Amino acid sequence: MGKTYNWAILGCGKIARKFVNDLKLLPNAKLYAAASRSLENAQIFASELGFEKAYGSYEEMVNDAEVDVVYIATPHSHHLEHALLCLNSHKAVLCEKALALNLKEVILMVEAARKNKTFLMEAFWTMFQPSFLKAIEICRSGELGALKMVRSDFAFNAEYNPAKRLYNVALGGGSLLDIGIYPIFMSLAALGKPSEIKTMASICPTGAEESIIMAFRYPGGEMASLVSSFAAHSSIQTEFSFENGFIRLNRRFHTPTTITYWKHPEEEITLSFEKGSGFGYELEAAHVMECLDAGKTESDRMPLSMSLDLMEIMDQVRKDAGIVFPDHD
Ligand SMILES: NC(=O)c1ccc[n+]([C@@H]2O[C@H](COP(=O)([O-])OP(=O)(O)OC[C@H]3O[C@@H](n4cnc5c(N)ncnc54)[C@H](OP(=O)(O)O)[C@@H]3O)[C@@H](O)[C@H]2O)c1
Repeated sequence: MGKTYNWAILGCGKIARKFVNDLKLLPNAKLYAAASRSLENAQIFASELGFEKAYGSYEEMVNDAEVDVVYIATPHSHHLEHALLCLNSHKAVLCEKALALNLKEVILMVEAARKNKTFLMEAFWTMFQPSFLKAIEICRSGELGALKMVRSDFAFNAEYNPAKRLYNVALGGGSLLDIGIYPIFMSLAALGKPSEIKTMASICPTGAEESIIMAFRYPGGEMASLVSSFAAHSSIQTEFSFENGFIRLNRRFHTPTTITYWKHPEEEITLSFEKGSGFGYELEAAHVMECLDAGKTESDRMPLSMSLDLMEIMDQVRKDAGIVFPDHD
């Protein structure tokens, strides 16, 4: 085993709690520091989850020389500011998705990582799930013929509340960057970047987009049909359609799941994957430490080029749908 890494959490909110519960499963990860805008919140988080230190500002935390790697779990609108704070202090960064609000911001983050020769990775946990990796392996193997179509949906009823992050445009609210990013990720992983994008969005009273339907066409004529919404529940599945069959990542395709496989004219089969003891976030955290052990400043599994491509597509989607983040675009 490599060295033990001192992890710090920047932003003690909802996803940070879930992530930390998985981080605890990794013997080479030490729960070192919790940093919040409020010392009281940091202290509660640190004592409940077992961190050694609590900081009442993010700046104080990055000034702690013992911190090796920071998990950024603030709203996407603040990822650029917080990633620059960490990278300029030479702290390795695992930053929640969406990596920022637009391509311009992602480019600034990538440049800061490269200038400081410091590790940066988007916390795109689906990339590390065995079910997703198997589906992509089948896509690329050619065993079902050519991939022609991707259909993917991610929707749940998030109960409209203007005070919530999800509906706050200033915090990057709207379904696209929060959950629409997953269907886009599936299409990008399987088919690459589209040559044409058409969208329709519905906007709620705060000005945030609530539901979005996206149609992508690819240079070879392949198509993708992608949906995200906070207005209603969907089956949260992804289906890859080939000349000779299909594979479907079943409900909650972005987390550990089963895959249904059908090859014409055989019977459908369902592949199950052993679920680890965590929720699935431990896989990305373990990967970060493998990269650091190997002296890497970038992951080759979830490379920065993938984050740049994802954001370039989301910028194009927003342009077509007329969605603007006023203080950022
Ligand atoms: N990978 C996944 O499965 C997954 C799931 C959910 C969310 N996420 C991502 O994680 C990020 C955070 O989501 P979340 O649901 O955990 O958000 P959240 O509960 O609203 O927490 C965000 C935290 O960010 C900090 N923060 C800093 N500046 C803030 C500001 N101006 N307004 C509000 N909070 C601010 C706060 O922590 P302090 O007060 O402690 O400083 C807050 O608790 C988002 O980018 C989201 O896309 C990922």
